[in-house]
Amino acid sequence: MGKTLTFLGIESSCDDTAAAVVRLSSGGRGEVLASVVEGQEALHAGFGGVVPEIAARAHAEKLDLAVEAALASAHVALADLDGIAVTAGPGLIGGVLSGVMLAKGLSAATGLPLVGVNHLAGHALTPRLTDGIAYPYLMLLVSGGHCQFLRVEGPETFRRLGSTIDDAPGEAFDKVAKLLALPQPGGPQVEAAANAGDAKRFRFPRPLLDREGCDLSFSGLKTAVLRARDEVIAERGGLTLQDRADLCAGFQAAVADVLAEKTRRALVAFPAPVLAVAGGVAANSLLRARLETVAAAAGAQFLAPPLRFCTDNGAMIAWAGIERFLAGGRDGMDLSARSRWPLDQAAAPMLGSGKRGAKA
Ligand code: KG4
Ligand code: ZN
Repeated sequence: MGKTLTFLGIESSCDDTAAAVVRLSSGGRGEVLASVVEGQEALHAGFGGVVPEIAARAHAEKLDLAVEAALASAHVALADLDGIAVTAGPGLIGGVLSGVMLAKGLSAATGLPLVGVNHLAGHALTPRLTDGIAYPYLMLLVSGGHCQFLRVEGPETFRRLGSTIDDAPGEAFDKVAKLLALPQPGGPQVEAAANAGDAKRFRFPRPLLDREGCDLSFSGLKTAVLRARDEVIAERGGLTLQDRADLCAGFQAAVADVLAEKTRRALVAFPAPVLAVAGGVAANSLLRARLETVAAAAGAQFLAPPLRFCTDNGAMIAWAGIERFLAGGRDGMDLSARSRWPLDQAAAPMLGSGKRGAKA
């Protein structure tokens, strides 16, 4: 096969400042030479969510350091690179702009090709980087900002089979944690509490299961948890640890039920050989187990890339940049940062914008 390609990837669309160096071997496989992710959790901790202005400033301060660290750790100089890939959207616009401006500066200074990448394409193409899988496959993206089923057919060919009409599941986990006075990010906390809980004590709704298709909704579920919590407090004067565990278990079971059933339907609509997941919520053990069962029943392989490549990172952007570059994709100094950028332009736009920014 052809020559190797080495790309720098830059990601700054939410609350992770990330840079990575990825090499495509002559055999066609990707290798992550370095991946640096600097989270901003401490900066936003007191605000109950990501504050866009704080995120943008932190990205502007830290991005060039992340790039330097990634290049040093990969033992790669700017002159060894074949291109620069950067998230150009969707996301919080100030952060995306920081990344795009840095990438343009580097490209102008070095003459290296510039490739703008859709953040969601980065997530969606990750299983090709980590596991070398072939097109087509089904991707379930479940994070704090995104929730959608994608039929992935090529580096720039995606069909959205369904998505959330309100909150993303990670956002719901985080809000439930907040309601129960658990620390952020809430997903791991809710999961840990749920392990000691009885999922049957509170019967929460399974939103949109009565509606055909693969669209999802999580905001009503969070409200149901709030009501159940208030009822317990009104009856007993407070919440015991067991009450909290039972609320978490009931909520988690409802999320897993909904995602499992919608995934089953997505695999009927598109009988893919592989079901892959990405996003922080893919760390949830109950969800993984349920998805594995659904995939096996549909005769599909279940694939969950290592968590550090499931959550926001620069390697997925570098890889998506390489794939776009090989397909002829190039950008100039007119590359713009976009807060909204649906992968599937033909799909109807979804309403709603969560705390983590515009949904695509
Ligand atoms: O992909 P990610 O790191 O960031 C973006 O949202 O882009 O996902 C973070 C989300 C948070 O909402 C977090 O609460 C959730 O993933 N999460 C989990 C678990 N671990 C992280 N949700 C449920 N169960 C988990 N074990
Ligand atoms: Zn993401």
